[in-house]
Amino acid sequence: MTLFTKERNLLLAIESSCDETSVAVIEDGKHILANIVASQVKSHRRFGGVVPEVASRHHVEEITLCIDEALTEAEVIPQELSGVAVTYGPGLVGALLIGISAAKAFAWAHDLPLIPVNHMAGHIYAANFVESLQFPLMALLVSGGHTELVYMKEAGSYEIVGETRDDAAGEAYDKVGRVLGLSYPSGKEIDELAHLGKDTYHFPRAMLKEENYDFSFSGLKSAFINTVHNAQQRDEELSTEDLAASFQASVVEVLTAKTLRACKEFPVKQLVLAGGVAANKGLRASLSEQMAQELPEVTFIVPPLHLCGDNAAMIGGAAFVEAQKGHVADLSLNAEPGLSFVPMN
Ligand code: KG4
Ligand code: ZN
Repeated sequence: MTLFTKERNLLLAIESSCDETSVAVIEDGKHILANIVASQVKSHRRFGGVVPEVASRHHVEEITLCIDEALTEAEVIPQELSGVAVTYGPGLVGALLIGISAAKAFAWAHDLPLIPVNHMAGHIYAANFVESLQFPLMALLVSGGHTELVYMKEAGSYEIVGETRDDAAGEAYDKVGRVLGLSYPSGKEIDELAHLGKDTYHFPRAMLKEENYDFSFSGLKSAFINTVHNAQQRDEELSTEDLAASFQASVVEVLTAKTLRACKEFPVKQLVLAGGVAANKGLRASLSEQMAQELPEVTFIVPPLHLCGDNAAMIGGAAFVEAQKGHVADLSLNAEPGLSFVPMN
């Protein structure tokens, strides 16, 4: 049962799971008419990470402004919409609740269906704005909170093939960045430094040879921190560029090797790279090179940089599939901070 009965297939989408308040208007699940992103990153920087209470307060201040701005930019009135999509997890509970409350109020006021969306599904559907997703596909999801390989048998179906046993890739970037005295979030800066240095420290490649699709980044993080602390105690100078290059080489090698193996094992037509760490130049280059060499029949898709980080357009993209299936929630919808896809058995 589809929800789309109006002249145009328009959805309003809301994202507030972490530190960006975002509202988008999407047509046919493929066209972004507006994608307003209010980032709070500057407010959290001085604390070296996202402070949940500060995040919630910013979302409260921004959410209605973002909704108005998105509708104005898209030149759409509420009566033309077919539904309101909202991220209901995973994420910070207080932050999620602001988006959910705004979505419910908007849906109730304009008599529209409410479509709950998993934030990680949103990250995958960011790729659908670049090229239509074709199934089955494999997605490597790498963000500040997640690192997982997800198999999609068909549209709207998500199974975890492997995931990190400890830190997420983005979290490891942010933690080693702190040790280097970089500001939060430090993934982008480390990526830039890495291109100026060489892999001279040869940090460990955790779980590279193991016959599974899981990852681990905490050993790498400890090796990095120990190297820096030992040098500080001995008053030795280290090359920040070489440290960044060595750290990135380890992350990229493990992510690339395991993802390629998963793409060989499963009958996939496409590989999607998604999440905030998908912005990483080294990872994008390595996957695109290796895929072209070893699996040229599998199409590699990676969203443009502005759709890699958190945004509501991707939520609208994933919601379109849910809406076509008639997956709606009532006004009792609650936040699910620990929401996750099911592991493959
Ligand atoms: O998906 P996202 O915007 O938020 C979460 O849902 O977590 O991801 C944010 C993460 C941060 O850890 C940030 O350091 C990382 O993405 N990141 C990068 C790069 N740009 C952002 N990591 C490595 N290289 C980059 N170029
Ligand atoms: Zn995210």
